[in-house]
Amino acid sequence: MKKVHIKSFGCQMNVYDGQRMADILAGQGYEETATPEGADLILLNTCHIRDRAVQKVYTELGKLRDLKNGQNATGQDTRIVVAGCVAQAEGAEIQRRQPAVDLVVGPQAYHRLPALLDEARRRRVVDTDLPIDDKFGHLPAPKPAAIRGRGISAFVTIQEGCDKFCAFCVVPYTRGAEFSRPVAAIVSEIERLAEAGVQDVTLIGQNVNAYHGDGPDGAVWSLARLMHRVAEVPGVTRIRYTTSHPRDMDDDLIAAHRDLPQVMPFLHLPVQAGSDRILAAMNRKHTADEYRRLIERVRAARPDIALSSDFIVGFPGESDADFAETLRLVEDIGFASSYSFKYSPRPGTPAADLGDQVAPELMSERLHRLQERIEHHRQAFNHAMVGRTVDVLLERVGRHPGQLAGKSPYLQAVQIEARANQIGDMVKVVIERAGSNSLFGREAGPEGLAA
Ligand code: 5AD
Ligand code: SF4
Repeated sequence: MKKVHIKSFGCQMNVYDGQRMADILAGQGYEETATPEGADLILLNTCHIRDRAVQKVYTELGKLRDLKNGQNATGQDTRIVVAGCVAQAEGAEIQRRQPAVDLVVGPQAYHRLPALLDEARRRRVVDTDLPIDDKFGHLPAPKPAAIRGRGISAFVTIQEGCDKFCAFCVVPYTRGAEFSRPVAAIVSEIERLAEAGVQDVTLIGQNVNAYHGDGPDGAVWSLARLMHRVAEVPGVTRIRYTTSHPRDMDDDLIAAHRDLPQVMPFLHLPVQAGSDRILAAMNRKHTADEYRRLIERVRAARPDIALSSDFIVGFPGESDADFAETLRLVEDIGFASSYSFKYSPRPGTPAADLGDQVAPELMSERLHRLQERIEHHRQAFNHAMVGRTVDVLLERVGRHPGQLAGKSPYLQAVQIEARANQIGDMVKVVIERAGSNSLFGREAGPEGLAA
């Protein structure tokens, strides 16, 4: 067997794409290996969302060049592939900056990997064709053993690309226009995963709640309708979806949080900023109060729902008063967790050409203040769990011998004392303590009471 090492950067869709590339390469006689050393094929699945993510790729490529040269000097035929969004955005520029790269393949072209790898034996190759000529229709299904090796939680891409064009964001350019996979293809993929033991499914897409896929009845299905169907797949006990846009949260989707026990009480709904002026400049197409009202509706349907968001500080033109509005929104909503970033100008996006860029020190200071408040609310949310009994799906061995780790319905990591053969069990856990990154508890008695 030849060996392939796949390293994914960035979002969950890259994790999914990395697995699908592994499935393709398995058919070409490659098995996965956890380290680049000794691999015949090294594949970086890259992220272009912020400049730092891009720099990381080039740094990594420098190290891999040395590894490749060293291995090939001893007679091996090591090759380097750059896939993902940097591949899409930079194309041949990658091989100009790092000639050790044999193949550059974009996110909508990786189903052609076998032919591209063949061609890359003769010359350097770049394939960044964007139209999604149903890449998904060409991807081989993973083998049951591969699914089992990946655990009982799985990501499934149901939607790709984005038509929202937020002024800061490269996604519409790197992933292309919005595309929804047909319902039947998604359901059969999830059935296959569930047959191999997957219980926890996260439906992913850059703008997942804009999902509008062809249904088996000839109608166009919404995300809510799709989730009702996914909830019928035997073995699927938990369903999540990410990432959503506030403008696409329709009534049916909100109702699904109330009506479907499999849909977890967790919603990642990025707001980005709390000032209407900045939201307008970002082309987010909603105001801060519209977001607040939306959250009220979601909470009315599912009062215990945990919310999370992404924030950008230092978008061009952001004043102290604008930033104060972001802090106010954070206090008003009380997010269970959130990601926050300094604005990073991305070439080709409208915001990159705006004047009035915020000074880096001011951005750092705002990020620090924001993260302090986000952390405060995260800790408050986690501490409020102490004494409660929650369902935990045990996923893997824990940090210490005799411990297993799993997730609460609210996407918190939970550690309990349990036997290794309990992986895959849904257990009732009494939460005893909230650490900084995990909750700790013990299995409750059979009636769900503390034993
Ligand atoms: N600069 C900083 N953060 C960004 N994001 C997207 N584009 C940029 C950018 N140019 C953040 C947004 C998005 C998350 C995935 O990354 O918050 O929701
Ligand atoms: Fe980017 Fe999300 Fe805006 Fe689409 S909705 S442009 S993926 S930030």
